[in-house]
Amino acid sequence: MPIGSEPRWFSLGAIEASGRSLDERVFRPANRAQGMPRITEAEMADGQTAMLLRLDGIAKSFGATRALDGVHFDLKAGEVHALCGENGAGKSTLIKVLSGAHMPDTGVLTIGDQSFSGLTPELALNHGIATIYQENSLFLNLSVAENIYVGRELLSTPLTVDRRATTAGARKILDVLKADIDPGTLVSRLSGAQQKIVEIARAFRQQARVLVMDEPSASFGRRETELLFDAVRSAVTSGTGVIYISHHLEEVFELSDRVTVLRDGRNVATHQVSEIGQNDLIRDMVGREVDDIYHRSATHRGDARGTVLEVEALSAPGITNVGLSVRQGEIVGLAGLVGAGRSELLNAIFGSNRSTSGQLRFGGKSVRITSPQAAIATGMCLITEDRKTNGLFLRQSYVDNFVIPFLSKFKRWIVNWSSAESDARSYAKSLSIRLSDIHQVVANLSGGNQQKAIIAKWLRTEPDLFLLDEPTRGIDMGSREEIYVEIQSLVKRGKSILMASSDLPELIGLCDRVLVMKSGKVICELIGGDITEHRILAAAL
Ligand SMILES: Nc1ncnc2c1ncn2[C@@H]1O[C@H](COP(=O)(O)OP(=O)(O)OP(=O)(O)O)[C@@H](O)[C@H]1O
Ligand SMILES: [Mg+2]
Repeated sequence: MPIGSEPRWFSLGAIEASGRSLDERVFRPANRAQGMPRITEAEMADGQTAMLLRLDGIAKSFGATRALDGVHFDLKAGEVHALCGENGAGKSTLIKVLSGAHMPDTGVLTIGDQSFSGLTPELALNHGIATIYQENSLFLNLSVAENIYVGRELLSTPLTVDRRATTAGARKILDVLKADIDPGTLVSRLSGAQQKIVEIARAFRQQARVLVMDEPSASFGRRETELLFDAVRSAVTSGTGVIYISHHLEEVFELSDRVTVLRDGRNVATHQVSEIGQNDLIRDMVGREVDDIYHRSATHRGDARGTVLEVEALSAPGITNVGLSVRQGEIVGLAGLVGAGRSELLNAIFGSNRSTSGQLRFGGKSVRITSPQAAIATGMCLITEDRKTNGLFLRQSYVDNFVIPFLSKFKRWIVNWSSAESDARSYAKSLSIRLSDIHQVVANLSGGNQQKAIIAKWLRTEPDLFLLDEPTRGIDMGSREEIYVEIQSLVKRGKSILMASSDLPELIGLCDRVLVMKSGKVICELIGGDITEHRILAAAL
């Protein structure tokens, strides 16, 4: 491919020197000549049904794991095509084939009228495919406009960036996306959804016709998700096609036109979303009927029981003067918008954030928790929000990660591997963690299976209090049910749960009490039947 055969600054400088209008600089950069597909007016007039890409018979194996087994998929201009399926079904692998991160073993990718047996990241981008992963790929210390033009800077002389043109160009793209974001703002100051929108804007600047989004909203609350959806809708109105991966069925129904379900690396079905109901989709994904996934017991638990945790006037980074209690056998939820202080509160209780004032009582005794080790010794665990940095040793195997929390329980720290391995196997089975075997390196598990690996290792330690931060993020419907069964069985045995979640149905379905947080404070408590979506949102906003 003749990409990048001349230095970038030279070609971009040449555009500037050519005196073309800003419009042309923004939307028709020099690499236009490299054959990047654009939506023609004829295509747009054709009801935006032009086929943007097609995948046929795509197979990809990793050693003995057959991640994709003859998958087909297509995307039309102006549509959102959702990709669903259980953890490990092959969704991320499929889009990595599309983004050029993986070479498929067999199969054909057709983009416009060109066919490929595989792509490189550069080829994918030059054919208008932009991928937005769950993890942020922006430069936090650069402005919105600088991020949008990074690597393709607009220059006023061959060595000077044209700031005015950059800001104006960025504003123009953000306007197309109907995003109310100032191009001059530092990206680190933006919310998660706004950052995703900047990534979409950058994809627009790259002339992307295909936007691929892998669980973009996994860490968002309702409002953030709506912001993101507005931008996605604006993107598709201009003829872009969007591939959208999500475990949240309501998002699939709200946003997408078609949905394809994968199971075990194979196609199960492709539906027009308007023609099916949620239950049809769940059945396709899980392979069985699922009704009350929360397995809620009818009565409010915990009234008669003792208090496990009492927090009094706790202040720490991100929280001020928080008081709360959790009783034995009780599930208490923490609701609130992103940034309300829920994770900060959990981390302060667990000793991973130092508290500046306040008291904790655990099992009726006053305790001073200054480190996670102290918290674990007291009888707590924290299942963190960020599995990659805080939850797992990614380069270790599943079983190594599994034994770490209870290493100290082995005599003189000598691990009894046969018992550890058999426990690791039985937890993998009960949570259906999809592994080639228990010695598989955690980094190679799918996102949802990594999350389940964290849950498994802490379940094994059986502490009295579980602090959970977004415990089912990225976890599929069927496995969520298995985790809820596990949670219900824990509280039946007298364990207690304090959980932060942005998934309102989860809080409503599971919790005895919900505390709503805002600006680092608990502002409202809802009990039993008062826990409704309306009340939680009204308090949080
Ligand atoms: N680099 C790799 N090495 C080995 N196995 C891998 C690798 N990448 C993926 N796999 C395996 O391929 C299968 C499909 O994984 P993939 O990440 O595509 O699933 P997914 O549908 O995206 O799941 P999730 O919903 O959990 O994100 C899994 O069994 C996973 O363990
Ligand atoms: Mg995935």
